[in-house]
Amino acid sequence: MKNILVTGGAGFIGSHTIVELLNKGYNPIILDNFSNSEKFIIDRLKSLTGKKEIKLYEADCTVKSNVLKVFENEKIDGVIHFAAFKAVGESFSKPLEYHKNNVNSLTVLLECMKEHNVDNLVFSSSCTVYGDTEHSPVSEESVKNKPTSPYGRTKAYCEAILNDYSTDEKSKLNAVMLRYFNPIGAHPSGEIGELPLGPPNNLVPYITQTAAGLREELTIFGGDYKTDDGTCLRDYIHVVDVAVAHVASLDWLAERSNELESFNLGSGKGDSVLHVVKTFEKVSNTKVNYKIGERRIGDVTTVYADCAKANKVLNWKTKFSLEDALQHAWQWQLNLKKQ
Ligand code: UFG
Repeated sequence: MKNILVTGGAGFIGSHTIVELLNKGYNPIILDNFSNSEKFIIDRLKSLTGKKEIKLYEADCTVKSNVLKVFENEKIDGVIHFAAFKAVGESFSKPLEYHKNNVNSLTVLLECMKEHNVDNLVFSSSCTVYGDTEHSPVSEESVKNKPTSPYGRTKAYCEAILNDYSTDEKSKLNAVMLRYFNPIGAHPSGEIGELPLGPPNNLVPYITQTAAGLREELTIFGGDYKTDDGTCLRDYIHVVDVAVAHVASLDWLAERSNELESFNLGSGKGDSVLHVVKTFEKVSNTKVNYKIGERRIGDVTTVYADCAKANKVLNWKTKFSLEDALQHAWQWQLNLKKQ
């Protein structure tokens, strides 16, 4: 396996994965419509990896003719499908957009893969498929409750589509579904990182933008949850650790056929929102102006991962700590401010 189509390759997790793919000798081909990313990231990817060219198709991957063009022009061996809308809160006000974008892009991609005899797929799923879990850590078998947001349902439907398609006896699908917990941080070089267009939906970019003076105040959504400090617990994982797991998944798929497996990608521990804010203040030596506000619709109290399966099967482990991730996110924010 060498030539890898990466949809959403200019995005947050996508761009970090491009670096890891290039460093491991893969040849990524990016398909991105830049709806939630910036073109300068492509130049950063080139300078970070010392490559003169990275193949790029600028197009929407819900349109089959766009995706077919890439399969016709390139010899694709495998696909990593990142391109999707990803904000839990926003998905309540844009449910149709979320379903159309996230679900259609997967079916279009599967059709193109089938027509061109490409079997290998790494799919970006999410811990939202676990819904409001009673117990953490959650293992891959814990899919008992329903997702609590339209965004989460798009990921659950995509997983169902992959399951249905893989049981079709004509299908040769060979895929992994990576269930991300909360990817944060930035590349240690400070050259690429999370780039929300407009006010950030996610916690860490909101923290860094507030600390940098770009936002007045961070609102912590809810201080009355049943946790030690009253704020939600999440499993924060460094984006480079997430990126590395994609390369491990491709390596694993290369030695198999007709597999469909899901893997949790997290740190394996739950950190409260307040702990993240305090840890950020410590590593950046900067105060964050914050207040405790109302709960946010769709949030679950606690979710963190049991990653034993990915550790064992993919031979993958996290390398970075919460402190590293917050330090790198801060460096990235400072670099952006200087531009
Ligand atoms: N939070 C705040 N204030 C903010 C933003 C977030 O208090 O301004 C809190 C949230 O309420 C939550 C925690 O910080 O408790 C993390 O929120 P994020 O929005 O950063 O992340 P989510 O947990 O909502 O979402 C993430 C990923 C999704 C994934 C989901 C599963 O972005 O892709 O985890 O829970 F599906």
